[in-house]
Amino acid sequence: MINDVLVKPLDGVTPDSDTRATISARPGGAAANQAAWMAHLGADVTFAGRVGARDVAYHRRELARAGVRARLAADREAETGSIVIMVGADGERTMFTDRGANLRLRRADVPARLLDGAAALHLTGYTFCEPPLLEVALWLLGQARSRGLAVTIDPGSAAFLARMGPTAFLRWTDGAAVCFPNRDEAALLTGEAEPVAMATRLTGYYSVVVVKLGGVGCVLAVPGEAPVLIAAHPARATDTTGAGDAFCGAFMSRWLAAPAADPTTTDLTTTADLTIADLTAAAEFAVQVAATVVTRFGARPV
Ligand SMILES: Nc1ncnc2c1ncn2[C@@H]1O[C@H](COP(=O)(O)OP(=O)(O)OP(=O)(O)O)[C@@H](O)[C@H]1O
Ligand SMILES: [Mg+2]
Repeated sequence: MINDVLVKPLDGVTPDSDTRATISARPGGAAANQAAWMAHLGADVTFAGRVGARDVAYHRRELARAGVRARLAADREAETGSIVIMVGADGERTMFTDRGANLRLRRADVPARLLDGAAALHLTGYTFCEPPLLEVALWLLGQARSRGLAVTIDPGSAAFLARMGPTAFLRWTDGAAVCFPNRDEAALLTGEAEPVAMATRLTGYYSVVVVKLGGVGCVLAVPGEAPVLIAAHPARATDTTGAGDAFCGAFMSRWLAAPAADPTTTDLTTTADLTIADLTAAAEFAVQVAATVVTRFGARPV
């Protein structure tokens, strides 16, 4: 969970003095934003995370507004993680990240019983990038696998991915049902220069790969089929914060709602067997939803 502070300078930045700016504090965090979009679009979602004690009620209320059930651990020592996001004139961002209470997430904050009856476990790469957190992430993956749940992954941060090592990340997440890297993350994971080659290579690890390409759109790939390029929905970018999270949330809301390819089975992992046409429809929906997010300030649906 993250407290976002969005800073949009109104003039050129003046070092050593004041720069007029629009500044707004918002609830954020990639997984929380995605959960909010999924619930807003009709999925049944529980979000688990850790926040500074004084922010518990605020974050619970903000998630509830979107329809998310929140299981928030209150940290009495660490503040909620926070990010100062400087938004440039073209909508692109520079971020200063203090992970705060997120770094103190422990197993008891995400009890395995939350997975009972679930269809999927979603993790972002942030949960893999420091040793105590990595232990929680790997334990959750083991719990999901032993229950036969689909696992979905957003690597989340090229900078953090470079620090933790792309090879290790691929080993930890190998076999996930869906992976949603952006272009920089996919380049790091594969060493490829072209998005189609990145996506194709990642199908060696994941059943479905969606490489997010900012204002270009995305590439969808599944093993043994030609990758599909889906154009972005045209939008005037004001603030791209959370576009990727909304994209993943929208894609997953469709992916989870789609009927299994074989309707005679009740095995929830058959979401991995959706046809390329179903997956393309989910990605087309995702680019539409993501386009609405880039045209306004903030990352949440409501
Ligand atoms: N300028 C834009 N115009 C239209 N659509 C956009 C634009 N920027 C992003 N999108 C949409 O949002 C999706 C996700 O954006 P992006 O590729 O930036 O992901 P990301 O880097 O994970 O985002 P985030 O910064 O939220 O983590 C894109 O696939 C695209 O559909
Ligand atoms: Mg992202």
